[in-house]
Amino acid sequence: MSTDDLSYPKSIIAASLYIFLSLVSTQVGAADDPIEYTGSHICADCHQDQVTDWSGSDHGLAWTSASSGNLLGDFDNSQFDHDGVRYNFRTNFGGYEIEVLEKGGQRTTHPVHSVAGIKPLQQYLIETEGGRLQSFDVAWDVEKRQWFHLYPDQDLPPEDGLHWTGPYKNWNGRCAECHATNYQRNYGVRSGVYRPTTSEIGVGCESCHGPASKHIDWSDGASFEDTRLDAFGFISQPVTQAGELNQCAGCHSRREVLTNGTPPTGTDYHDAYNLALLRPGLYEADGQIRDEVYVYGSFLQSKMYAKGVSCTNCHDPHTAELKAEGNALCAQCHSPAGNPSFPSLRSAVYDDPAHTNHPEGSVGAQCKSCHMIERTYMGIDGRRDHSFRIPRPDLGAEMDSPDTCTDCHSDQSQTWAADHISNWFPNSTHRGPHFGQIFASARQNPVPVTGGLQEIARDTSQPGIVRATALYLLGPVQNPKLANETADLLMDADPLVRRSAAQIQQTAPVSDRISRLMPLLLNDHLSVRIAAAKQLLDVQPSDMSRSQQAILNAALRDWQSSLSTKLDAPETHLVLGGMALTMRNFPAAKSAFSTVVDLDPQRAEAWVMLVRLTQALDGIPAAQMTLDNALTKLPSHPQLLQLKTTMRE
Ligand code: HEC
Ligand code: HEC
Ligand code: HEC
Ligand code: HEC
Ligand code: HEC
Ligand code: HEC
Ligand code: HEC
Ligand code: HEC
Repeated sequence: MSTDDLSYPKSIIAASLYIFLSLVSTQVGAADDPIEYTGSHICADCHQDQVTDWSGSDHGLAWTSASSGNLLGDFDNSQFDHDGVRYNFRTNFGGYEIEVLEKGGQRTTHPVHSVAGIKPLQQYLIETEGGRLQSFDVAWDVEKRQWFHLYPDQDLPPEDGLHWTGPYKNWNGRCAECHATNYQRNYGVRSGVYRPTTSEIGVGCESCHGPASKHIDWSDGASFEDTRLDAFGFISQPVTQAGELNQCAGCHSRREVLTNGTPPTGTDYHDAYNLALLRPGLYEADGQIRDEVYVYGSFLQSKMYAKGVSCTNCHDPHTAELKAEGNALCAQCHSPAGNPSFPSLRSAVYDDPAHTNHPEGSVGAQCKSCHMIERTYMGIDGRRDHSFRIPRPDLGAEMDSPDTCTDCHSDQSQTWAADHISNWFPNSTHRGPHFGQIFASARQNPVPVTGGLQEIARDTSQPGIVRATALYLLGPVQNPKLANETADLLMDADPLVRRSAAQIQQTAPVSDRISRLMPLLLNDHLSVRIAAAKQLLDVQPSDMSRSQQAILNAALRDWQSSLSTKLDAPETHLVLGGMALTMRNFPAAKSAFSTVVDLDPQRAEAWVMLVRLTQALDGIPAAQMTLDNALTKLPSHPQLLQLKTTMRE
């Protein structure tokens, strides 16, 4: 599971008041779409094979009702103790419920609403108020058949935002869109109520193929002028790599959502999402997975992606199983009998001790063991890096990154592993410089490696996500000279590179900024358009022609509707508060920060701003009351305590 990525660059703070004020009252309605979702059950009439394959798949079971067939946990009065809290799992009149006995003796009982996932773990969803679902953080280990806590090291009181009842564990806003078909959270910012709609829970046929009503009319024999199979916005079979990745990547990536609900079938990824770049915390400096980043961002780094391989070369989309077992999966292409579409790969044998240097059939001889490092999330769920890289223990220390060899041989050093590799492959062509060397330095201090980062950003033999990350890492170096030197990258073929290049224009002179960014505002992907618009927020209308103003306003409206789809997230209101502050609209800022602490009382930075703003607007006594209120939530927060002292003085 992940949270939405809402890390905006500082430039957002320079936003226009117009957006802020209109935002809070705006609810973006779904566009009228004459094509409708029908549900997967209808497909069985004519596509029995696919329905059978899919029904038991991880997709079909991504979110299910709380019935005995779906729910695998032990609800026969089983008990689990963790950190002084006691959990009791039991049935009640045919339903399932969880009783929680908090440390303080407070006892609550929660009926199980529905079930998330199928293996290797199941999580249970609780409806804490009408329409609002929260994901419970004691989960069921399917293999070991036992309960476990997802965050064993966190000691969270019930009022903490990260507690299972808090905003960061909210299923509607943070999870459901990837576990359901055509999900809309429909959050009312004034009421604080979700009125979610979905055509079905779980990843149904139409999550990938698109709404099918007209396909069914067509197959029922209704006559249409357009008789193409894939007419009416319905995707039959993706024929291009890009088409397929647009089908899968929306759910299999770490990203920020820009549209309201599920984007229409066939929407380009960059028109719906901001992909997370190889940021510290999410990825290692050399691009290996670190946090839960879901496949796409690492797959984009691979040579296989560059050569046109896609998900369904290895995964069956209906069973969601691998297309072949073990090394045979890779031998589909990497063997003399391999795929004729990749003839150059058929000259070499890899599934052989001559390549693997481990006994045949052993765990060390598995292709995935050395080329797909494994990381474990949610306590017990091992997931594999999809960048299919060559292990580089020789650069491990310099890149501050792990490698598959010593991940498994945990008692050995990276030098040990590197020595063996160079003995095994004396004539290797795979030990040249790596972008991870520069990225590791840049994460410490980008200034000395400005040149190196620019070189990577320009090196079109590198994956787009790597080049875009180089520009992202240049962010703190911002200056007009750099903006000038990188301006040509605003026209790069890769939207990720254009998006990152826009972010470096912040310090360019206004007239340059306008002329450079206008083309991106006009007809680029939504994610690029928004990034460009953010860089122009402080531009005065008098600096632009009327038509330029109209273009900028249109992009700002796109950004506005994007923000308005996530007004349930405290982070969104922090952004809005920052914007209002910059516009010196203090009442608006106060209202935004006050919404933040309503949604998450643990947000100290918002409390601090709220106290200061209350002091400025309503005087010291009112500010003191706000501060006292803050201190009941965060009694020992140093910044709040300091405020208390200064206010007394
Ligand atoms: C009344 C029968 C009927 C129903 C119901 C139906 N289809 Fe079809 N579908 C067809 C026919 C006929 C074709 C074209 C022949 C073929 O390829 O099987 C087709 C083709 C397809 C194709 C393209 C196959 C290809 O080879 O390119 C897909 C994908 C598809 N249907 C998905 C669905 C989905 C998803 C549903 C349910 C939402 C659905 N269909 C419901 C009859 C139906
Ligand atoms: C609507 C969101 C969505 C879309 C679209 C989607 N997936 Fe998934 N996928 C999921 C979720 C959620 C799970 C996990 C479900 C679970 O474990 O219960 C999953 C699981 C998987 C798994 C199984 C992982 C495992 O642990 O074995 C594979 C493989 C997979 N997806 C591949 C694909 C491919 C390939 C595509 C495109 C053809 C695709 N997915 C499209 C959401 C989606
Ligand atoms: C960006 C899409 C996305 C979001 C958002 C998301 N998930 Fe998932 N979820 C997935 C995918 C994909 C998988 C399959 C995991 C994998 O890669 O094997 C999955 C798997 C799971 C599983 C099954 C166990 C497992 O690890 O395979 C559970 C339970 C789960 N997610 C819960 C959640 C919860 C709770 C949230 C919100 C806090 C959440 N998910 C948010 C895409 C998503
Ligand atoms: C995770 C995405 C995904 C889901 C869910 C999904 N499909 Fe597909 N479907 C695909 C892809 C991708 C292809 C193209 C086949 C390939 O490349 O292997 C496909 C192909 C098909 C075809 C053409 C024949 C074939 O099997 O290749 C039919 C028919 C079809 N799907 C129907 C369905 C039905 C019915 C459902 C629901 C029961 C469904 N699909 C669910 C992604 C999906
Ligand atoms: C559909 C065909 C196909 C399949 C299946 C496939 N590969 Fe590849 N693989 C390729 C292509 C194409 C390249 C790029 C070769 C080139 O650079 O010209 C490649 C390159 C590689 C590389 C070299 C990476 C580098 O940085 O030089 C590795 C390692 C690799 N594959 C591992 C695997 C593993 C492991 C599997 C199985 C999990 C696998 N491949 C399955 C087609 C495939
Ligand atoms: C014990 C670890 C290990 C295993 C297991 C392993 N590889 Fe490799 N692989 C490597 C190393 C190390 C290199 C780099 C070789 C070099 O530097 O020349 C490599 C390189 C490659 C390359 C790029 C080769 C080239 O000539 O450019 C491909 C493709 C590849 N492996 C595929 C596979 C496949 C397919 C499997 C499974 C059959 C596999 N590997 C199993 C360690 C392994
Ligand atoms: C070259 C083969 C190959 C390609 C291409 C590939 N995968 Fe995988 N995938 C694997 C292997 C191997 C595993 C590991 C299975 C295991 O652990 O046994 C895996 C695992 C997964 C999982 C389970 C969780 C995890 O991360 O280990 C998901 C989800 C997944 N792949 C989705 C995708 C998606 C989406 C794409 C396309 C963007 C894709 N894969 C492309 C081979 C591939
Ligand atoms: C998934 C686990 C795994 C990975 C990854 C792995 N190995 Fe091994 N390796 C083993 C095991 C297990 C053995 C013992 C032989 C056996 O029984 O398979 C072994 C044996 C060895 C040996 C001989 C015995 C010794 O300890 O001196 C060397 C050398 C070695 N591995 C080096 C490497 C290098 C270098 C890499 C990375 C390119 C690597 N291994 C990747 C599991 C792994």
